[in-house]
Amino acid sequence: MLLKDKVIFLTGGSKGIGFECAKKYAEAGAKVMIVSNDAPSLATALSELGESHSAVFCDISNAEDVANAIDYTLLTYGKIDVIHNNAGIAHPSKPLHETGADEWDHLFNTNLKGIYHTTKSGLNALIHSQGCILNTSSLVGEIGQENHAVYAATKGAVNALTKSMALDYARHKIRVNAVAPAGVWTQMLEDWGREQDDVAGIRKYLDGIHALGYCPSGDVIADVCVFLVSSQARFITGVIMPVSGGAELGYRRTNE
Ligand SMILES: NC(=O)c1ccc[n+]([C@@H]2O[C@H](COP(=O)([O-])OP(=O)(O)OC[C@H]3O[C@@H](n4cnc5c(N)ncnc54)[C@H](O)[C@@H]3O)[C@@H](O)[C@H]2O)c1
Repeated sequence: MLLKDKVIFLTGGSKGIGFECAKKYAEAGAKVMIVSNDAPSLATALSELGESHSAVFCDISNAEDVANAIDYTLLTYGKIDVIHNNAGIAHPSKPLHETGADEWDHLFNTNLKGIYHTTKSGLNALIHSQGCILNTSSLVGEIGQENHAVYAATKGAVNALTKSMALDYARHKIRVNAVAPAGVWTQMLEDWGREQDDVAGIRKYLDGIHALGYCPSGDVIADVCVFLVSSQARFITGVIMPVSGGAELGYRRTNE
């Protein structure tokens, strides 16, 4: 029970990687507040997790929504030990010059400003609990990605923010880290695949980019997240941890 009685505020916890994290956090003994802007998946996720956990509808790009969700968590559990900023969007998949100003704003307001909002509203609670922050970044924040410039830019900014936050909050004993997946089979990846030229070849392509030879499910990310938010990682801060099956290694692979 690595996370016994820890309270975890988990954005995007209703689906995909976030829901895999919610299940592993619960298994490790934590109480999870799943936070999402998708009411149907919130309800389904909560019914699967069980009644010692909670859910709150919240758009992380909206400061007031986030403040209310943090207040609700403190009212429900009396403390917050971990803020896991996992919610994100990846649409649209386009080069920079084809990306609309509204699309730019939506990506940055969700993937980056969401972290600003949870930190503004939740930092005092973390100071009190000497808790930690975990951000779900992406490998493309480090290596870039063709046809996905603005998404990659948001994740590059998440990496810089993670390191800067780690420095600023170390004085409060708050650790700040990030996980950086390459591909993970979720709704987001399915939708991204449909935006690519070779839709039929996407599965083979995604297996091929990982040196370990397959595109995983979210459980591989969730296991690392449990470690990073636990006391086992008590001397790790400011780290962007690839959980990528070696996708960043060596020269570009082909599927031949
Ligand atoms: N799937 C991948 O291949 C992959 C790879 C690298 C990084 N990531 C990152 O992992 C994270 C999770 O992605 P996923 O693949 O599980 O996506 P997903 O689409 O399956 O789930 C996204 C979750 O975020 C929530 N969400 C989206 N916008 C929100 C908002 N404005 N307010 C509140 N909640 C919001 C959704 O409701 C959902 O619960 C994202 O940050 C994503 O960028 C995913």
